[in-house]
Amino acid sequence: MLKNKKIVLGITGGIAAYKCAELVRRLKEQGCEIKVVMTESAKHFITPLTMQAVSGEIVSDSLLDPSAEAAMGHIEFAKWADLILVAPATSNIIAKMAAGIADDLLTTLLLATPAKVAIAPAMNQQMYAHPATQANLSTLAQRGVDIWGPGKGEQACGDIGAGRMLEPSELVTLCTAPAEPQLLAGKTITITAGPTREPLDPVRFISNHSSGKMGYALAQAAVELGAKVNLISGPVNIAAPRDVSVINIETAEQLLQHSLAHAVNSDAFIGCAAVADYRAANIADQKMKKQGDELTLTLVKNPDVIAAVANLDHKRPYTVGFAAETQNVASYAKGKLSNKNLDMICANDVSKSGLGFNSDHNALTLYWHDQQKELVIDTKYALALNVMKELAQRL
Ligand code: PMT
Repeated sequence: MLKNKKIVLGITGGIAAYKCAELVRRLKEQGCEIKVVMTESAKHFITPLTMQAVSGEIVSDSLLDPSAEAAMGHIEFAKWADLILVAPATSNIIAKMAAGIADDLLTTLLLATPAKVAIAPAMNQQMYAHPATQANLSTLAQRGVDIWGPGKGEQACGDIGAGRMLEPSELVTLCTAPAEPQLLAGKTITITAGPTREPLDPVRFISNHSSGKMGYALAQAAVELGAKVNLISGPVNIAAPRDVSVINIETAEQLLQHSLAHAVNSDAFIGCAAVADYRAANIADQKMKKQGDELTLTLVKNPDVIAAVANLDHKRPYTVGFAAETQNVASYAKGKLSNKNLDMICANDVSKSGLGFNSDHNALTLYWHDQQKELVIDTKYALALNVMKELAQRL
């Protein structure tokens, strides 16, 4: 079973573009469906006609082409793909991707896609080694873009060093990596993610720094392992993973209502949302006006969502919590495991810079009542996959 069956190949303007005909031919031999997008400069190195002949599809090269938009709009195009591979990826496209520029079809698709994105850098070795290029590559890697290559060796310009695009056969192997084993096939998992917002008045709220990245990574990993996933999400700025059913909420009370409704139909429930522990006792109907030097707010306790799920009498799912701690991580996490009646808890030390809230990386310690396991620093997606594999053994 192929993981990346539908591939958009984005060709940019580098000499290695001539290898793309071979790349497409080999991907098609493996059973992939390919759509080719070319930048203007790519067309100086290989013609759209050649790419159309090998891919068997019209090549797309313009964002503002009414007939192409009528056939498949660019957002639909971005959603069609399982994988967007940019090969060759010049220093220019890498810089544009890092900056989030969308000034042509390819860069727009790259921003609009929920699919996996991979790039195969190809450029002069000096350009590749430049701190600007290295910083851009590191930004993209932190955002979860796969960086395939470059290879080392003699370059078209005569230089020797790192900057050669990987060979088509190597790229085909990376594109067609088998799908993850379907360890969660037939299972339904409900995951909460992001912050809650507790209103104070029509324009203000209490919230926290959760970006939703950890919870969304869990949802993505669960889908990769074959689960049906409900993602109950607070307000975040990230795209939902493909094939995930998203329920948007704002407050802890809304989170409770939707969590209970989905939990009873789920094999597992994972509470990764950063739920505000308190909300305003009274929400002002109108914007509160400034009065005096101090303001005292009366807050009341929010429901404990995960404890409510873990204490269901009927149809209780396997219940996994998260513990975000800044001190005494192990003892606080174990306390929550017991007090909330959870089956498992994933503890993260959110005092460490670059980890936890609103970052692309994390480190977790998983606790059960009788054992524990360390997951060292990694991307949130890699950690999520490990969490899901542990969960799969217990369902
Ligand atoms: O979203 P990111 O930016 O990627 O950051 C990820 C994260 C740090 C938010 C995530 O990894 C995490 O730790 N999530 C849980 C945050 C949290 O609220 O922890 P807590 O220790 O306060 O709560 C413990 C558990 O009880 C959690 O499963 C929480 O969802 C749940 N809870 C808490 C309070 C409440 N009223 N209801 C709850 O269900």
